[in-house]
Amino acid sequence: MQLLSLLRARFEQALSGWVDDPAVHAQRVTLARDPRHGDYQANIAMPLQKTLEMKPLDIAARLVEKLNVADICQTPEIAGPGFINLRLKDEFLAEHLLAALGDERLGVGHVSPLTYVIDYSAPNVAKPMHVGHIRSTVIGDALNRILRFLGHHVISDNHLGDWGTQFGMIIYGYKHFVDPAAYARQPVAELSRLYRLVQQIIAYQAAKPKMAAAYDVVRRAKEKKSELQAATTELASKQSAKHKADLKQADKELRAADELLHSLTEKVGAVEQAPELLQLAQSHPELEQCAQLETAKLHEGDRDSLALWEQFLPLAITEIETVYRRLGVEFDFTYGESFYQPMLEGVVEELLRSGMAVESEGAICLFLEGFDAPMIVRKRDGAFLYATTDIATIEYRVEHFHPDVILYVVDHRQSEHFSKLFAAARAIGYDRLELHHISFGTVLGSDGKPFKTRSGTVVGLETLLDEAVERAYQAVCDPQRLQKAGIEMSHDEQRHVAAVVGLGAIKYADLSHNRTSDYEFNIEKMVQLEGNTSAYIQYMVARANSILRKSGVELDAAALDNFALHLQQPAERDLALQLLQFEDALHQSVEEYYPSVLASYLFGVAKQFATFFDQCHVLNADSPELLRSRLLLCHAAARVLSQGLRLLGIGVVERM
Ligand code: ARG
Repeated sequence: MQLLSLLRARFEQALSGWVDDPAVHAQRVTLARDPRHGDYQANIAMPLQKTLEMKPLDIAARLVEKLNVADICQTPEIAGPGFINLRLKDEFLAEHLLAALGDERLGVGHVSPLTYVIDYSAPNVAKPMHVGHIRSTVIGDALNRILRFLGHHVISDNHLGDWGTQFGMIIYGYKHFVDPAAYARQPVAELSRLYRLVQQIIAYQAAKPKMAAAYDVVRRAKEKKSELQAATTELASKQSAKHKADLKQADKELRAADELLHSLTEKVGAVEQAPELLQLAQSHPELEQCAQLETAKLHEGDRDSLALWEQFLPLAITEIETVYRRLGVEFDFTYGESFYQPMLEGVVEELLRSGMAVESEGAICLFLEGFDAPMIVRKRDGAFLYATTDIATIEYRVEHFHPDVILYVVDHRQSEHFSKLFAAARAIGYDRLELHHISFGTVLGSDGKPFKTRSGTVVGLETLLDEAVERAYQAVCDPQRLQKAGIEMSHDEQRHVAAVVGLGAIKYADLSHNRTSDYEFNIEKMVQLEGNTSAYIQYMVARANSILRKSGVELDAAALDNFALHLQQPAERDLALQLLQFEDALHQSVEEYYPSVLASYLFGVAKQFATFFDQCHVLNADSPELLRSRLLLCHAAARVLSQGLRLLGIGVVERM
C-alpha cells in the first residue's frame, strides 16, 4: 500500500473547496522528521498563512477538523507554529501488513502503465569495458526491474558502441601487428592487445612533439612562482591579499604544468623504454591518421574492412556477454550503433528537407535554441556522428516501441550531448516524449582517481567480479564464523553463497550511493557483514528465515488467516511501519530514478529488523500468540528485504 499517497489524498479532500491546488499543498505531508512526534507530519498551515490570511495555528486546527483520517491515524496533534503530527493506529498497521503478507506482490499495486525504453550498459565493444559500464549496467538493470514490478511496460535496449573508431585501430593493428598464433588461441585477448598497442603508439606520437613545450611551461611556471615568493617578504600588508592570490594562482599553474608534463613523459617513456615498441612507432608514423583511414573505409562499406568487422564483433560481444551472464543482466534488444547506420543518410536528408538542419561550412548542422555550438549531424567529409545515430535511434524507437519515456543511463560526462539531443528531439517534434539523462558519477580508486582494473580489459572486469566473490567467501564462509553460528555448509553451498554475496556487493555498492556522486570502489568494505552493505541485508534475511525454520511453524495462507499481529513493543511497531512503507519506497526510487532510495530503505528495514531481533524474543516469546505474531514479522521482513534486493538485481541465500 502507498501510505504517503493515502494520507495526502485525505489532506487533499480536507483542503478542497478551501484552497486552490489542494493536491499541491497535500504534497507537504512527509515522513516525520523526528519519530518521537509521530510517523508523518504535515507542514501545510504555515505556507498558507498569507493566502488564507489566518494564523497558522488556526489553519491547522481547522484542517484537523476537516480531516478524515480516523480509520488510519490516532487523533492528529498540532505542534509548534502549526505542524500537524500523525501517528498511525496499531490496528491499521497490523491489518494492512497482514494483508500485504497474503499477497504475492506484498500489497504493491499496479500503476497505470507507461511505456519506457531504458538505454543502458552500452559499452564500446572491443575497447576495455570499465567499471563505469558496470555502473550503467547495474543502475539501468535496477530501474528496469523496479519499473516493471510497478507495472510499467519496459523495453531494455543495449545501445552497444559497435561502430566506433576503435574498429579502425583494431583493423589497422590486425593488418600490421597481429600474432597469428595468439589470435588462434585467444582471439579476444589478442584483439585487445592490438587495440592497446595501437592506442599506445598513437598516444606516444601525439605526446612526443609536445614535450619540449611542456618543459618550457614548467620552467616558466617555476620562475614565476619563485619571483612571487621572493617578493613576499618585502611587501606591505596592504598588497598582501592580491599577492597571496597571485601566488596561489602561480602555484596552481605550476601544478597543472607539472601534471601535463608528467602524463606526456609517461606516454613517451612507455614506448621509448621498450625497443620493440619504439621500432613499431618509428616504422608506422602518423598512426592516428592511418587508423582513421581504416575507420573511414569501414564506414564507407569497404568489403575487406566489413569482413574483418564481422569477424571481430561477435568475439567481442561474446566476451561482454559473459559479464552480463554473471551479473544476471538481460536485454530485450541489443541494437548497437551499427544497426542504425543504414538509416543515417535518410535522417539527415529529412532534417535538411524540413529546414531543421542547414549546411554550414560544408557540415550539416542543427542550430538549437539555448546552445552556442550547433549539433553537427554530418561532417564536411560526409561522416556521420554519435549524435546522428542517437537521433536515428529516437526515431526508430518511437516508430517501433511507442515509448512515453526514454531513459539514458550514461555517465555525467555526456550531459552536454544529451541536453543537445533532447533539444533536437523537441525541435524535430517529439514534444510529448519524455527524455531523461540518468547521469552518474565516476567510480574512484583509493587514490581518488578514476578506478582502473589492472588489465584494463573485460578480463579485468571479470577478475574484479572474481575478487569480490573471493572476498565474500573469506568474509562469510570463514570456518570459525560458520562454526560459531552453528552452520554446516557443503563446499558447493559455500561457493554459491560467496557468489551471491560477492556479486551482490558490487551491485549494491554502486546502487547505494547517490548515482550523481562519485564513489570509491573498495572491495573489502563492500562485502562486510556490518554497515551499509548488501551482505548485511542478506544476512538479516538469512537470520529471519533461519528463525522461521527453527520454529517449525508453517506460515501458509491458513496460518495468515488465523494469526494476528500484536505490535506491543516499539521495536515491533517500528518494524511493521517500515515494512508497510515498501511501496512508497519503490515509487520514490523511480520518481527521479534514484535506486539509492530503495537501497537506503532496505538498509533501514534491515537495521530495524536487527533492533527488533535484539529487543524482542521470538522463539521464546511469552505466549503462543506473541510467538506467532513475531514470526509473522520475521516473515514479512524476509519477504520485503528479499523482494527489494531482487529489484536491485541482488539475490539472497537461505543461510549465511
Ligand atoms: N557507447 C557509449 C559510451 O560508452 C554510451 C552510449 C549511450 N547511449 C546512447 N544512446 N548514446 O560512451
